[in-house]
Amino acid sequence: MIVVPQTPAVAPPSHDPGSRIQDPGRFAFIIHPLRISDFARRYPVTRKLPERLVELAFRPVPPRMVSHITGIRSPTGARAEGWFIGLPLTPRTLMDSPLEFVYRRLIQCGRLAESLGAGIVGLGAFTKIVGDRGLTVAHNLRIAVTTGNSYTAATAVDGALLAAQRMGLEPANVTAAVVGATGSIGAVCSQILSRSVGRLILVARTRETLDALQARLRSAGPSTTLGARRADVRVETHVKAAVRMAEVILTVSSATDVLIEPEDLRPGAVVCDVARPRNVSRLVYERRNDVLVIDGGVIEIPGEVDFGFDFGFPPKMTEACVAETILLALEHRYENFTLGRDITLPQVEEIAALARRHGFRLSGFRRFERAIGDDEVERIRQAARHGRFAQV
Ligand SMILES: NC(=O)c1ccc[n+]([C@@H]2O[C@H](COP(=O)([O-])OP(=O)(O)OC[C@H]3O[C@@H](n4cnc5c(N)ncnc54)[C@H](OP(=O)(O)O)[C@@H]3O)[C@@H](O)[C@H]2O)c1
Repeated sequence: MIVVPQTPAVAPPSHDPGSRIQDPGRFAFIIHPLRISDFARRYPVTRKLPERLVELAFRPVPPRMVSHITGIRSPTGARAEGWFIGLPLTPRTLMDSPLEFVYRRLIQCGRLAESLGAGIVGLGAFTKIVGDRGLTVAHNLRIAVTTGNSYTAATAVDGALLAAQRMGLEPANVTAAVVGATGSIGAVCSQILSRSVGRLILVARTRETLDALQARLRSAGPSTTLGARRADVRVETHVKAAVRMAEVILTVSSATDVLIEPEDLRPGAVVCDVARPRNVSRLVYERRNDVLVIDGGVIEIPGEVDFGFDFGFPPKMTEACVAETILLALEHRYENFTLGRDITLPQVEEIAALARRHGFRLSGFRRFERAIGDDEVERIRQAARHGRFAQV
C-alpha cells in the first residue's frame, strides 16, 4: 500500500559517522527516456514502431539498474559511488498515468536503490515533477530522497549571469525573463535574479500565480542592498512577447513542446535552457549565430568519475540534479534535502556552499552535447554587435 505523507518525511541517517573518511557515500539516481528515440539506443527495433505502441509496451517493464557510478572523489578526500536506475517511462506516460501507478513504479526504483546500498536516491527529469514531487516516494522508502532542484536553481542563475557577463551585458542594466517563473525551480531563480538584474519578466500561462509571485518579489522592497529586490518586476503570459523584450532568458518551464523559435530572440540575447525537454528549438542553434544559448546546470564532478552510461555528456560531467544527489552522498547527509514544490533560498545557498567545498563547478558553456568555446562566444558577440546574423 502506498502511504501518502501529511508532512515531509526525513529519513534517519543510516551510516556510522565515525567511518565517514573510509566509507564512500552511496546514492542512486532515477533516469527515464525523455523521448521515444531514447529507447532506440538500446532497442533499435523500436525505431520502426509507432510511438504509442512503444510507450505501451514498456509501461509494465519494471525499473532496472543501468550502471554503477564509480571514482567520485572530492578534494576533501570524501568519496561516493552510486547507481543509475532506469525507469522505461516517457514524460507523457509519467504525466498521463494514474498517480498510484507512477508512485508504485518510483517506489520500486527506490527499493532497488535501497537493495543496492544507496543512502539517498535522486529523482531525474519528470520523476520529480509528477505528483507531489517526491513526498510520497520518500514516505514509502527507508532511504532519503531529493529532487536535485536546489542545485539546479543555483547553477541555472550562475550560468545565465556568467553567460551574460561574457556577452558584455551588465546585469543591472538588463531585462531578464524567466519562462516557467512560477514553477518550483523558476520561483527561486526569479527571487535570486531579482536581486541582480534591472528588469525581470515573470512568464507562465497562469495569471493568478504570476501575480502572486510578483507581489511576493515586490514585497522584498525596492532597496538595492544585498539580498533585497533590485529589479522592476513585470508579468507576462505570452512567452514570445516576453522573450522579445529580454536580453537574458532563463527557461525552466515544464512545457513538453518547444516554446522559443529563432525569430523570437533579440540579437545578442543569452538563453540558459534548463528545461528538459528543452524549451528552445534546435533551429535557434542552426539559424541564429548572434545569440548565445547554453544548457543549464552542467557540472563537472571531481575525481576519476565513470558514470558507466552515456547520457550525452563528456566524461565527468552531469546535470545539476545528479550533482546535488552526489553532494549529499559525499556528505553522508542522507536526508530529504529538496522535496515538494517549494525551494527556499537558504536551501539553494547551502547546496551551493557544499558544491564549492567539494570542488564541483559549472563545466563551461555547453549546448546540445557540445562545448561552446571562448572563440565561439566572441564570434556570437561580434555578430550581435554588427547585426550579422543568419537569416531566419
Ligand atoms: N537540467 C536539469 O538539470 C534539470 C533539473 C531539474 C529540472 N529540470 C527541468 O526544469 C523544468 C522545470 O521544472 P520544475 O520542477 O520547476 O517544474 P514546475 O514546478 O512544474 O514548473 C513549471 C513552470 O512552467 C510553467 N509552464 C508550463 N507550461 C508552460 C508553457 N507552455 N508556457 C509557459 N510556461 C509554462 C508553469 O506555469 P503554468 O502552468 O502556469 O504555465 C510553471 O511556472 C522541467 O523541464 C524539468 O525537467 C532540469
